[in-house]
This record gives sequence, C-alpha cells and structure tokens, in this order.
Amino acid sequence: MPKVHVVALGGSLLRPEEAEQRSIWLGRLRQLVIHLEGMGQKLGLVIGGGAPAREGIELARNCISDSASLDQVGIAATRLNATILQQIILDAGCKVNPEIPTSTQNAAESLQEYNIVVMGGTTPGHTTDAVAVALARDANAAHCVIATNVSHVYTADPRNNSDAQKIRDMTLEELAEITGVGKPLQPGASAVVDPVAVGWAIESNLTLAVLDGREISRLEEALEGLPFEGTLIRG
Ligand code: UTP
Repeated sequence: MPKVHVVALGGSLLRPEEAEQRSIWLGRLRQLVIHLEGMGQKLGLVIGGGAPAREGIELARNCISDSASLDQVGIAATRLNATILQQIILDAGCKVNPEIPTSTQNAAESLQEYNIVVMGGTTPGHTTDAVAVALARDANAAHCVIATNVSHVYTADPRNNSDAQKIRDMTLEELAEITGVGKPLQPGASAVVDPVAVGWAIESNLTLAVLDGREISRLEEALEGLPFEGTLIRG
C-alpha cells in the first residue's frame, strides 16, 4: 500500500507579502508534490482560508452574528485557496482530484484513485486543521503535518510572552494542555492548533507535526521522516 501523507497548509502561506516570494514558494511546493508522486506516495493537502476568509468573515459579521453562517463564508474561502493549489498541481501534470471534495470521507476515497487530493473546509465548527486530522484518520495516513506561519508550538503565545519557549517534542496530551480540547474557535479566529483538531487527534492517536510552511525544506524533511525544525507531537 502506498504511503499516505496529509498536510494542512495554513491559508496565510498563500499570501506572502511579495509576489516574487509567492511564486518561489509555490514553485518549491509544486516540486515537492511532483517528487512525492514520483516516489509512489500519496498526498492529501488541506488548504486554509487565510486573508480571503478573514476579509469575508469580517464583512459578513456586519450583518450576521450566527457562527455557523460566518463559518460558511470561511469554508468558501478555503475552497477558493484549495482550487488555486489544485490547478497549479494539475498544470504540473500530477494526478490530482478534479473536484474539491466537501467531506474527508470523499477525499479519502479519491485518494485511492488519485495520487494527490486537494481540499479546503467541510462543515462549520472547526478549522482546516481539524479537517486535515480527520482526513489523516479516514485515509490511514502515517501522520498529519500542520504547516503554518510559526516555527514551533511554544509553551505560551510568543506574541505576548517574551519567556515563551519553543517545544520540539511533546505528546498530544501536553499539546491539549496548551490549546484546550474540543472547544471551537470563533469564526476566523486563530490558534497554533485548533482545539477541535487536537481532540480528534487524541481520539485517533495520530502523530502530528507543526512547522513553518514558509520553509518548504522543513516540510520535506518532516514528510521524509527525517529530523525537522518544528514540533513533533506523538500520539
Ligand atoms: P482556516 O482553516 O483557514 O482557519 O478556516 P485558520 O487555520 O485559523 O487560518 P489559516 O488559514 O491557517 O490562516 C477559516 C475559517 O473558515 C471556517 C472557520 O470559520 C475558520 O475560522 N471553517 C473552515 C469552517 O467552519 N469549517 C472548516 O472545515 C474550515
């Protein structure tokens, strides 16, 4: 059976400040996907909503207060970003799913036919971190890598704690002590790992990795099972 990887790609990664950086980053990501396919491995890519999700949710929030409705706006943004990646990977000649799946069960089935499956969000009440964990569970993936715009899980939020320390290796239970478990974030709100995703990872005893997805080499090392710069979270 081919090895299956699942990666959550934070939507913020699709929007580096400079256009030149963006095209270099996308080119490296595309090379990595081609490389994995060439090795006979399978890849589920779950893309976050980033700036379009935040902008759309803020705009809708002027008129709507219902969380599930705002979440639907965020989900639409994740599928926009997923379509961008899917088309880039298709253009590279890879065997990628032609439609964006709306459930992780469908995505896991598509992974039997396609080498690469790209998707965004599914239903309200969680972020794409949780979708990636659910896809890893449904597709029997070896692990779920959360590629985001911070280098590690920290002992506290480094934005307002100068004493916050990087954690390189921890258990899911230790992660749960930092993030909490199961309580959904507000629409558009951010956390190093979504507490719903942490709860689902504990249920499935899934190994996670959190790393800075702006550095494609870190993602490559984690997928190859090599020591990587980031946080390994053991199930
Ligand atoms: P993201 O998955 O992009 O949130 O979903 P994030 O991880 O905080 O942000 P980035 O992309 O890594 O920067 C954006 C919003 O879409 C809704 C939620 O409101 C979430 O905050 N969403 C997403 C869902 O309701 N369900 C999903 O399955 C995915």
